[in-house]
Amino acid sequence: MTRATRVLVTGAAGQVGVDVVDTLRALPVPGADEHYWADARGVDVGEFDVLALTRHDVDFTDETALAAAVDRARADVIVNLAAYTAVDRAEADTATCYAVNDAAVGALSRAAGEVGSHLITISTDYVFDGAKGASYVEDDPTGPLNVYGASKLAGERRCSDRDTIVRTSWVMGVRGRNVLRVIAQRAASGDTVRFVSDQMGTVTVAADLARALVVLVRERPGGTWHVANEGATTWFDVATFAGRELGRGDDFATAISTADLVPAPAATRPARADLSTEKFLAAGFRPPPPWRDGVARLLAGRDGSW
Ligand SMILES: NC(=O)c1ccc[n+]([C@@H]2O[C@H](COP(=O)([O-])OP(=O)(O)OC[C@H]3O[C@@H](n4cnc5c(N)ncnc54)[C@H](OP(=O)(O)O)[C@@H]3O)[C@@H](O)[C@H]2O)c1
Repeated sequence: MTRATRVLVTGAAGQVGVDVVDTLRALPVPGADEHYWADARGVDVGEFDVLALTRHDVDFTDETALAAAVDRARADVIVNLAAYTAVDRAEADTATCYAVNDAAVGALSRAAGEVGSHLITISTDYVFDGAKGASYVEDDPTGPLNVYGASKLAGERRCSDRDTIVRTSWVMGVRGRNVLRVIAQRAASGDTVRFVSDQMGTVTVAADLARALVVLVRERPGGTWHVANEGATTWFDVATFAGRELGRGDDFATAISTADLVPAPAATRPARADLSTEKFLAAGFRPPPPWRDGVARLLAGRDGSW
């Protein structure tokens, strides 16, 4: 019998973390598409031996503790999902944001290299400035507009050539705090919503991302990869679609422009930073399905908390 692949998952209590841990443990994940696997092969029970690490176990601002945890784990693969993700708060809390998204990723990469673990770390569409006017591919020039995006890009640059970087965007999972949850709660309470129609991006369902990551854990390709659900959209379109799924009429969501947001968000977001998954497809992996399927699945898979 082949030995289980040992995987250390950091940020294991976060939105993507919980779905990745359960996916690798061959447990059910709410909102998952039973037909979607990036390599059309499910996870076998016992294929992965998963060590789930949360902030409670190791704080990423303590690089020594982080390196010690990597050394202890002796994992074949590390999937790093820990991050400072409060995009607006980061504008004023720059030092903490950089400690987690930049310095800690460097510490992880070095520690992984020392024990021979393969690092897969997650980055963001916010490394781009949105000025391209078309979907972004992995080699496009970066140009972050906010502190969070700049800190994630700095973290990418700390990685070695051996490491795998996965950029994703607009993540939503049944068990996470995300925009879809807010939309569904407003729809249920009879409220209306206003969302921007001048920011374009790609939705990523956490359960689909988790299933896409499985193939990267198996293959350990190195380099940068974009993973998101198929199709670019706007938050206004997401809200309109979700409202319809939840039985609300077309008056549920109103389109506004970024300039109409009051108060203006602290962080500037790119006008168009949808991610192309062409490279993932060309490598023989199936990208996650169209975003509307994903949003419908998440709404159908909601737990009692929303
Ligand atoms: N959410 C999105 O829309 C989005 C978009 C693009 C890329 N991404 C990237 O996707 C990855 C997963 O994001 P997510 O949506 O799962 O975010 P999340 O729900 O905020 O999860 C991040 C996890 O990191 C942990 N963390 C934060 N600071 C830490 C520290 N100092 N030490 C240890 N752990 C710490 C958090 O713990 P606490 O809960 O205790 O704070 C949380 O469990 C991240 O790399 C993120 O940058 C997310």
